[in-house]
Formats: sequence, structure tokens, C-alpha cells
Amino acid sequence: MKIKAYFSPIVKEEEKQFDKSIVVMVDVLRASTTVCAALFNGAKEVIPTVSSEQAMKIYADLDRSIRFIGGEINAIRPDGFDAGNSPADYSKDKCNGKTIILTTSNGAKLFTQLKGAKLRIVASFANFSIVLKKIQQLLSDNIENNFFDYLEFFCAGNNGLFSYEDSLCIGGLIHNIIKENEINFELNDSADAARNLYDYHQDNLFDFLRNSDHGKRLTSLGFQSDLDICLAFDNFPVLPIIEGISIKKSII
Ligand code: MLT
Repeated sequence: MKIKAYFSPIVKEEEKQFDKSIVVMVDVLRASTTVCAALFNGAKEVIPTVSSEQAMKIYADLDRSIRFIGGEINAIRPDGFDAGNSPADYSKDKCNGKTIILTTSNGAKLFTQLKGAKLRIVASFANFSIVLKKIQQLLSDNIENNFFDYLEFFCAGNNGLFSYEDSLCIGGLIHNIIKENEINFELNDSADAARNLYDYHQDNLFDFLRNSDHGKRLTSLGFQSDLDICLAFDNFPVLPIIEGISIKKSII
């Protein structure tokens, strides 16, 4: 099994590039965590979009009783949206039974990509253990069925740049997968670097991440409480799987 990591999304997906891949998509601050919060709190589905225009268009076509539009432009809730990109905005009373249309600068765009992958999972610290458990199951089943050749981790990153929070989250997943399996893994340089980075920072992980570029930005904008939610293990233990254009909660 080959493990690959990407510190920012790829520009173009080649045909059949991911058809034997488990793809794990991560945007810790904050889109992955928001998806987990919404699904944990009973949303029927989350539809990620590439722009607020696309989000508004999809929203306009939906029945009023089930629709909910959320997200951010430059981290701030756009006018007319039901919610921003704070996971706390996606509480049970607001989300239960709703179709959430989500637009964000990096994460939501990433979740619309890699449609050719055999399986796409949305991950964060908020659902770290359940994602790990699912990957363990898939790896163990794979010994017999051989469905997958690759385990590929994608960071949403920060507008094309590296982000510590996503890289350390995938590094933590890779660290645990290797620790708990006897399979022979072949890591590319990025996957190995992410794991080494996690090993280095694991003892003060969340304090360190508060001082990441986006962590500091969110604090300066008054979103400290989002950091409390996003930078903690297993606040929303749910398994979000991307099916076509929509992200749904899956049973493990
Ligand atoms: C993104 O998609 O870039 C983030 O989720 C931005 C944010 O913090 O809202």
C-alpha cells in the first residue's frame, strides 16, 4: 500500500488517477470541522461548492423548508447567508434534516474535486478517531479484496500555501496507521514529512496550531472559540463520505 500526501490541492485530475485510491480530504480550520459539525447535528447532506455564486444558485432551486446556506469569503459570512463557517453555527436546531450548501475559500473547493477517486472521506481532528477506524477497516478488508493500491491525503492548505493544521492532522493519521498495522507501507516524501512533523509536535499539538498562519488570523478576527472546537480530538465523531456532489454521514 502506497501512502501519499499533498500539501495543497492538485490543479488537474488525470483520468483513472485515483480509481484505486482511498482519498482523505482535510481542512481543519474550518471547513472539514464544519462539515463534521453539520452532519453530527443531523444535516441530511452538505453540498460543497466552488463559489458563493454557485452556492446561491443551488440554494435558490431548493425547497425553503430544507435549505440552509453557509460559508465564508475571506473568513467572514457573506450577506444573506444563514451561517458563516464557524462549526458552532451548525447546531442541531439549525441543521437537523437540512441540506447545507457550503462555500469556503479552500476546503469546500477541495471537496468538489477528485471525483474519480474510489472513496473520498472528509477528515479533521474533530472526527480523527472514527476516520482512523474506518481506514483500519478498509486496510484490513483490502488484504482479501485488493480494492485499493493507494491511501492519499489531501490538505486544503491556505490559498495554495502549506498549512500546519492540515499537515499535522494528516501526519497524525499516518502516524497511527503505521503504528497499528503490520502492512508494508511505502510513503512518498510528503507523507513521510507530515508524519515526522506530527511526531515532532504531538506533545503540544493544539497550542502550536493556535499560532499557525490561519490560527492567528482567525483569532485576530474574533473567532477564538472556533479554534477551541477545531483544535481538539473527536468533538464530532462522524464519518463524512463524498458521494457525487454531496457529503453524507456514513455508518462505520
Ligand atoms: C477555507 O476553506 O479556507 C477555510 O475553511 C477558511 C475558514 O476558516 O473559514
